[in-house]
Amino acid sequence: MNDFPFIADEEIQELAKKEAERQANGLEMIPSENHTSEAVLNVLGSRLTDKYSEGYPGARYYGGCEIVDQVENIAIERAKELFGVTHANVQAYSGSPANQAVYFALLEPGDTVLGMHLFYGGHMTHGLKVNFSGTLYNSVQYHTDKSGFIDYDEVAKMAREHKPKLIVGGYTAYPRKVDWKKLREIADSVDAFLLADISHISALVVSGDHPSPVGIADVVMTTTHKGMRGPRGALILCNGNPSTPLKKLEKTKENIPSLIDRAIIPGLQGGPHNHQTAGIAVALKQALQPEFKEYGHQVAKNAKVLADELMKRGFELVTGGTDTHLMVIDMNNKGLSGKEAEKALGKAGITVNKNTVPFDPRSPFDPSGIRLGTPALTTRGMKEKEMVQVAAWIDEAVQHADDDAHLKNMHKEITKFTKDFPLPS
Ligand SMILES: Cc1ncc(COP(=O)(O)O)c(C=O)c1O
Repeated sequence: MNDFPFIADEEIQELAKKEAERQANGLEMIPSENHTSEAVLNVLGSRLTDKYSEGYPGARYYGGCEIVDQVENIAIERAKELFGVTHANVQAYSGSPANQAVYFALLEPGDTVLGMHLFYGGHMTHGLKVNFSGTLYNSVQYHTDKSGFIDYDEVAKMAREHKPKLIVGGYTAYPRKVDWKKLREIADSVDAFLLADISHISALVVSGDHPSPVGIADVVMTTTHKGMRGPRGALILCNGNPSTPLKKLEKTKENIPSLIDRAIIPGLQGGPHNHQTAGIAVALKQALQPEFKEYGHQVAKNAKVLADELMKRGFELVTGGTDTHLMVIDMNNKGLSGKEAEKALGKAGITVNKNTVPFDPRSPFDPSGIRLGTPALTTRGMKEKEMVQVAAWIDEAVQHADDDAHLKNMHKEITKFTKDFPLPS
């Protein structure tokens, strides 16, 4: 018997329990968050976490990989089936490293990348000046128009002017459908690669509630948490087949599968996180069931009802609504900053995040807006009827933003309501 003290850490266990209670007792409305199933949580806490397996199934730098090879192959096959591609890399540690891998695969340092500016709905990894994507590469950034819609004319104009080698389509705070074909035309006009980052909308792509970029973009990347309800991680998807190893590869379209695989390892990462790969496989199995399509439809329906109800109550939504899972609300006409609104809603048990709005006159540290969405509430079984109630609560909390006692009472009421909508088990 090993007498090394494998003590339990009650302090951390208690905090994990408290976090589970916080989630269960409130309304998690940050659109990039969701609740994973117990099946996913179980494999995340398994012995798969112990295993090193640098390389890919069948070609590893370590022994003892027979079982993790099977796990990774299952995850790959499910990802290919779900999204209809011929090549999937499931090893990226998360969304940002996955985007980094795509850049590393397709570009040379200093090449030009055209992506949406963070303050208009893009992600940091789409070229923000303080991110790797804006320091290692020559980043130029497009914006939305005044109403918050992607300004495709500006994208085309900037592409002509700057001749990017990569155009990034895909957003973190954009409530409308993306016209992938238009982005493809623009990319083709300057001979650029097109990356579709569908991290936020992949569940809607699976359910058919958002057009798929597969077959249009050269590379499709999605995180596996968010809408997909899996563990933290990412899928990098493309068509084509990897070539024989060790050949020097030109950065051409036909070499993309190999370029991606080599960018992940040896380019950027060491051993894959096998417990995470297993969790991704489980989440993908769930996403392949017909019920997942129902889930995606309901996420979109819930967002529409919530948006309509909020607008009826005088909230100003960027673009005047949503056709995805999320909405961005300009709080200026309600007399609150985004930060103040986030705080007041938080006290009432409604978790959202502050967010810039297009052409925001305020600082990004205390911007004008908030961003919220329906994926996590939908996972808990909430439907249109509940969205009407949620809109009423958001309105009430905003109206009583300075009244802590009122917000505290609201939190109690919301906690009572959530008992009918437990976290998945
Ligand atoms: C569009 C988009 N891409 C990439 C990422 C990065 O993912 P991660 O936080 O897993 O690094 C995010 C995260 O919110 C995102 O919204």
